[in-house]
Amino acid sequence: MTNSNKVTILDIQSKKERKQPVTMLTAYDYPGALLVDEAGVDIILVGDSLAMTVLGHSGTVAVTIDDMLHHCKAVARGGNRAFLVGDMPFLSYQINPAEAVRNAGRFLKEAAMDAVKLEGGQEVTFAVQAIVQAGIPVMGHLGLTPQTAAKLGGYKVQGNTAEKAKKLLADALALEKAGCFSIVLEAIPSPVAEVVSKALTIPTIGIGAGPHCDGQILIFHDLLGLFDQFTPKFARQYVNLRPLMVDAFKSFRQEVESGVFPAPEHTFKMKQAELEEFLNSE
Ligand code: KIV
Repeated sequence: MTNSNKVTILDIQSKKERKQPVTMLTAYDYPGALLVDEAGVDIILVGDSLAMTVLGHSGTVAVTIDDMLHHCKAVARGGNRAFLVGDMPFLSYQINPAEAVRNAGRFLKEAAMDAVKLEGGQEVTFAVQAIVQAGIPVMGHLGLTPQTAAKLGGYKVQGNTAEKAKKLLADALALEKAGCFSIVLEAIPSPVAEVVSKALTIPTIGIGAGPHCDGQILIFHDLLGLFDQFTPKFARQYVNLRPLMVDAFKSFRQEVESGVFPAPEHTFKMKQAELEEFLNSE
């Protein structure tokens, strides 16, 4: 069944034209997608950041297509309104165009995503072109690209010299030309993001790229205070749920240990006659 309120690629493009900010959050499972969808966010990204936030890896490189599809399928069951983007993992699109198209197709055919995202500039336009030509919308990702953090020398701000900023602008223009419908800009100086956003006709979605992008994305766990192992400077925590959750788990443990839970209202009863018959049959 189709949802008439579903956000489309045209809605996202027209937000840029009307100068209305695009909102995007990550989600990694069914309950998370239901919550983000209910909040009216435009785009849900099933980010490969799930490697850290959900699977406990130290970076995104280890995550596989099957890991991603497993989480995308769950998100698709909960995200009925938002436009759904699945992150293509490291080495699932760089090898050759045919492999890139086949892997991107799995996100739509098997996991009901609306689009895919991939990282990189001019070096991946061959993959963007092939995937878009196959009819699959592609979101780009420039600046701090976590899949190649080792090559970048770590999780650092990018595009912060004139030369690097020029390269970033050239990459963004190349991605737009190759057919991307939008580009994530991660951890770059705000003035660079502003120039790039103005130079493109497609919307930019910033994370640590300042207020002049056409939209903003945050990671689900950062926004809710659920992941305290690493919080980037640009993440805003709107609520700190972690201590509340630990307190709730402690209360459960203490109530079980002291015999307070389960209470009568949590307990099923049976008719006295049935109980007696059962006890007498022993
Ligand atoms: O994987 C992810 O969550 C991302 C966002 C940081 C844009 O790529």
